[in-house]
Amino acid sequence: MSKEVMKDKYEELMELAKRRGFFWQSFEIYGGVSGFYDLGPLGTLMKRNITDLWLKYFVLRHMDIATIIETPVINPARVFEASGHLESFTDPIVKCERCGSIFRADKLVEEKLKIRAEGKKPEELTKIIRENGLRCPSCGGPLGDVRTFNLLFKTTIGPYEGNTGYLRPETAQGMFISFKRVHTVMRGKLPLGIAQIGRVARNEISPRQGMIRLREFTIAEMEFFFDPENPGQPPFERVADGVNGKLNILRAEDRLKGVEKPSQYTIDEAIKEGIVVSPWMAYWMAVSRDFVKELGLSEDETFFEEKLPEERAHYATQTFDQLVKVSRWGWVEVSGHAYRGDYDLSRHQKYSGQDLTVFKRYEEPVKKKTKKVIINKAIIGRTLGSSAAKVIKALETMNPEEVKKLLETQEKYVVVEGLKIPKEAVKVVTREEVVHGDKIIPHVVEPSFGVERLVFVSLDRAYTKEEDRVVLRLPPKIAPIKVAVFPLVTNDVEIVRIAREIYERFLNVGIAALYDTSGAIGRRYYRADEIGVPYAITVDHRTKEDQTVTVRYRDTREQIRISINDVLPWVLEKIR
Ligand code: GLY
Repeated sequence: MSKEVMKDKYEELMELAKRRGFFWQSFEIYGGVSGFYDLGPLGTLMKRNITDLWLKYFVLRHMDIATIIETPVINPARVFEASGHLESFTDPIVKCERCGSIFRADKLVEEKLKIRAEGKKPEELTKIIRENGLRCPSCGGPLGDVRTFNLLFKTTIGPYEGNTGYLRPETAQGMFISFKRVHTVMRGKLPLGIAQIGRVARNEISPRQGMIRLREFTIAEMEFFFDPENPGQPPFERVADGVNGKLNILRAEDRLKGVEKPSQYTIDEAIKEGIVVSPWMAYWMAVSRDFVKELGLSEDETFFEEKLPEERAHYATQTFDQLVKVSRWGWVEVSGHAYRGDYDLSRHQKYSGQDLTVFKRYEEPVKKKTKKVIINKAIIGRTLGSSAAKVIKALETMNPEEVKKLLETQEKYVVVEGLKIPKEAVKVVTREEVVHGDKIIPHVVEPSFGVERLVFVSLDRAYTKEEDRVVLRLPPKIAPIKVAVFPLVTNDVEIVRIAREIYERFLNVGIAALYDTSGAIGRRYYRADEIGVPYAITVDHRTKEDQTVTVRYRDTREQIRISINDVLPWVLEKIR
């Protein structure tokens, strides 16, 4: 068999993607660097269609409760100290002591021993490697101890050594940092979703899965803030079948029992039985289910896998990955759904010293005994001089219970922000007062999508081979080119004129169209099918007589005749 015949679907798709301009490995002329892909002309248009669809599902359909922002890719180090990424955004690595190759230790253990290793501590992985005699997959040499590797890309902000910055690994921190401002702009309402679509970077150890694992990619995510005591009712009527709609879920407890297949729950069951910890999380999972379906993936081909505690990110108390099946890699994650609680806002409040709480007004004022921190600024000023302001600010944002605990020490001083102040400078008193509301830190659920993965899985799903042709059965909404216009022959001035005019009509209204005169009509259909153009319009001799054209539908090759003047509205209707 020739090599050509032996290509699997994945290889064929990668070849098509490169040849027709969907995507290819970046830095090609320098030999390429793994984990980086360029999007070509078709890939860029398709990605834009997908992000537009995401925007429609997550923001435009939820303008009453959601909005969108853009924040910087480069962030000062303090952001990731606060977010916990500097400490926890790591993967375990192991180095061969002979050839120096470096491997992701948990993946190596999983591949070689077929056991679950994600989330295991470096010491545990070292022990497993030693006990099982694992050696370097490249040269067979001995492996060293497992250590952690931080996946943040580091840079310097300005010409100042030590002024460290990092490229964001998620857009989420931008939403947390700007939460108060956006909340005010949005007239102080909760619940409030803040979305962002933007580039992120992760210094993956050895990405080998093409477009699935990238070192730089686009995330489309939403941080959805709500009052945990009064979360409000999600608008279930906006998702397919409302609360009776189904979610395919594989629970963590079932995974531990060895169950591999998801079960189907109604959204209502998932909430009432506590399978999903927050109604809002279940809601955004349902929106994600509907959104992914629009990309051409049926509900049976996608499910939500609950992560085990050791598989979850440091900020999450419950996480589901939305998985879809692709030809080469099996089930891959296209979105993550994390319950982040008040983790991020609390951490940023602590690290910035700013009040990130939201004032929650009671329906009626109530009399309450409240604890208050009384600060003697004069004593602190005398004791600390120029450092006093920092300590006073910290005390003002601390919980009175926390301050009370500090004061219980046997010493004559307490330590705040690493500085000693006399105990008599701070008091916690209990007072009865009329209270109009409470300060709360909202809780957050986060649906988060990797956009390039969506491009890839949509193409993988759409790629179809028939005996004489390749067809990308992309849903028209995400197809990069919506319509092709062909003059049947090129030596008839009138046919060419009409074809150009129809083509211009599409361009005029901003519909991505192609015009192709090259080769026999069958070849032109073939080329359009191969890049997923849903509709092809052919102007022929009959057009001159009755002002109609042929419209051919990609998936069935069915052809109908439509009058020239109806063709634009007809296509617009179909693609929208
Ligand atoms: N914000 C989601 C993630 O970091 O994967």
